[in-house]
Amino acid sequence: MEIVIATKNKGKVKEINHFFKNIDINFKSLNDYPQIPEIIENGNTFEENAIIKAKTTSEILNKPVIADDSGLQVDYLNGRPGIYSSRYSGIGATDKSNRLKLLGELESVKEPLKRTARFVCSMVLWESKKGLVFKTYGICEGTIGFKEKGEGGFGYDSIFIPSGFKKTMAQLTDDEKNSISHRGKALLNLHDFFITGYIKK
Ligand code: IMP
Repeated sequence: MEIVIATKNKGKVKEINHFFKNIDINFKSLNDYPQIPEIIENGNTFEENAIIKAKTTSEILNKPVIADDSGLQVDYLNGRPGIYSSRYSGIGATDKSNRLKLLGELESVKEPLKRTARFVCSMVLWESKKGLVFKTYGICEGTIGFKEKGEGGFGYDSIFIPSGFKKTMAQLTDDEKNSISHRGKALLNLHDFFITGYIKK
């Protein structure tokens, strides 16, 4: 069975392949299907964006497609950057410029407990004939640190301290991150869905 992951992000593809290594699925990604055009993510929620990516890809390829959409919600900023996480600092935004913008906005907030935030991941499985087959989500709670720490991960990892840890997400090993991350939790739910019937043995 083939399932397409609606992303070009090789890190995500590797993470998903690793997660499902014991399941008999042949995962492909958008890197294998260059004919898929750039998909405009103009939904109002993570779930809407995940559905837009999965549905568009599935209808073009006529194959089952997994898509996820994720981001960071900071309570002091009323949930921003949220669905705008990757482009938070505007045109030409990089992970670094996004982190610096966020740290600047929290500069006056000295109390760690007022710097609470969470990573959220919405994940869906779409089939062109059936529509939405499965949807799930994962959340990872934590706080925003006062400066960047750690070299691992990507995005906001080096300023995000997961609850129960004294280090940032960028200071965790891949396995540690996967076991607590928003995407790791969503993938675990998808894994359960696969093995409880979706994948015929
Ligand atoms: P996407 O769902 O891969 O499009 O992620 C959107 C944005 O959310 C990324 O560009 C990052 O800024 C942020 N983000 C999502 N997941 C993570 C994570 O695991 N660590 C750090 N940042 C993340």
